Amino acid sequence: AVPLPIPKTAVPVRPGHYEVVQRAAKVEIIPGTTTEIWGYDGIFPGPTFELRRGGRTVIRVRNELPVPTSTHLHGGVNPPDSDGYPTDLVVAEGRAFHPAHSDHHDLSQWTLHQGAKDYVYPLEQRAATLWYHDHRMDFTAPQVWRGLAGFVLVRDDEDDALPLPKGGRDLPVMICDRAFEEDGSFRYPALDPSLLVRPGVEEDFMEGVEGDVILVNGAPWPFLDVDAARYRLRLLNASNARRYRLRLTPGGRFVQVGSDQGLLAAPVVHDAITVAPGERFDVIVDFSAYPIGTEVTMVNALGVGGAGDVMRFRVRRRAADDSAIPRRLSSVEPVAAAVATRAFDFRRTGQGGADSWTINGQPFRPGHPLARPRLGTTEVWRLTSDFHHPVHVHLAAFQVLSRNGRPPAPTDAGWKDTVDVRPYEVVDVLVRFAGYRGRYLMHCHNLEHEDMAMMAEFELI
Ligand code: C2O
Ligand code: CU
Ligand code: CU
Repeated sequence: AVPLPIPKTAVPVRPGHYEVVQRAAKVEIIPGTTTEIWGYDGIFPGPTFELRRGGRTVIRVRNELPVPTSTHLHGGVNPPDSDGYPTDLVVAEGRAFHPAHSDHHDLSQWTLHQGAKDYVYPLEQRAATLWYHDHRMDFTAPQVWRGLAGFVLVRDDEDDALPLPKGGRDLPVMICDRAFEEDGSFRYPALDPSLLVRPGVEEDFMEGVEGDVILVNGAPWPFLDVDAARYRLRLLNASNARRYRLRLTPGGRFVQVGSDQGLLAAPVVHDAITVAPGERFDVIVDFSAYPIGTEVTMVNALGVGGAGDVMRFRVRRRAADDSAIPRRLSSVEPVAAAVATRAFDFRRTGQGGADSWTINGQPFRPGHPLARPRLGTTEVWRLTSDFHHPVHVHLAAFQVLSRNGRPPAPTDAGWKDTVDVRPYEVVDVLVRFAGYRGRYLMHCHNLEHEDMAMMAEFELI
């Protein structure tokens, strides 16, 4: 049995400045075997950055991998040149990269940084559980699969002042699935070793790539010894394509206090939570509700076999607990009335092929924005699809207004940046554009769909 790993916390090189190196490393994930990962600082998940609201932070990402990378802060509100645009790449010192070999020949759209790039995050945003991951053009899915993802926890006074569980009882929990070869290496369909050629993206990628082993913070089926007390679990689905329906057995509830973009106005109680790729749920679980010695399992009701098991909590001992879940968590800011309504339809068109996953009939084309919203305004975006697509919008937070004309689900509460759009559903979201001018992306967060061009640019003007 493997204990739940807690990713190490990044240490600044000087106040407000961090450096992280993307490199290959051999680690033990499946006991007794070795897996080569690509990790930030050679670990998977990468280091956790604990940052404060308003504390401008510079993270220098040095790439020592054989492939170009682009690092995106998912949920971050930052200027576009630090957004991890897919063609804004860091190439290892001394390595060449020729964009002309890709499907995207417009060379004006590519930027190459040799060795390293400084990403600047003003962090003028609420406390929230964010995450960072690779966002390279056409190769986000295989590069994240190899391990290029980690947490950023933004903290602020409002969240700190609440009596929610803190310290060792406040845990980031990254859930993702992987498949392994017998020797322990990651198995990814059509994984070209050089990853300089686009893999054959055909029928077997229809629903994206799933693995049969669930990892939590990089470990299979781990356990955590817990006190009979409340814990704050910052759940993140970092899978390429798999969605989870999380439940506790033998019974138990998740009290949700936050969503993708931070605290809810008031807690919401769930027996089960469906988490789509890219989404975060900040929940409290009270282990004092179980007798000492209970093994509480978090299961995935959507998974069969190994994919049904997520992790275990072993309730070890009684302990003091001065935490509480207040009935009011955060003040609800009034939202200005929407100035425009736009529709985005996520659809697979044609038969296979690289550009058959589209938004409004368009495969992703860098430099061709599908919308030009104004900074400081709010718009209603109507999201539709003929399939299951977790839709993610960069830079902007939104609230779910309705699903199929009916009120949103209890799990839709709060400010979000990713929403699961189910087959033939019409999801209306109220998007607030309060960040920076420039170009940003919206895309399906099924990473194989994203790489198959289900992505669109919008420009904030
Ligand atoms: Cu988490 Cu554009 O992605
Ligand atoms: Cu994002
Ligand atoms: Cu999709």
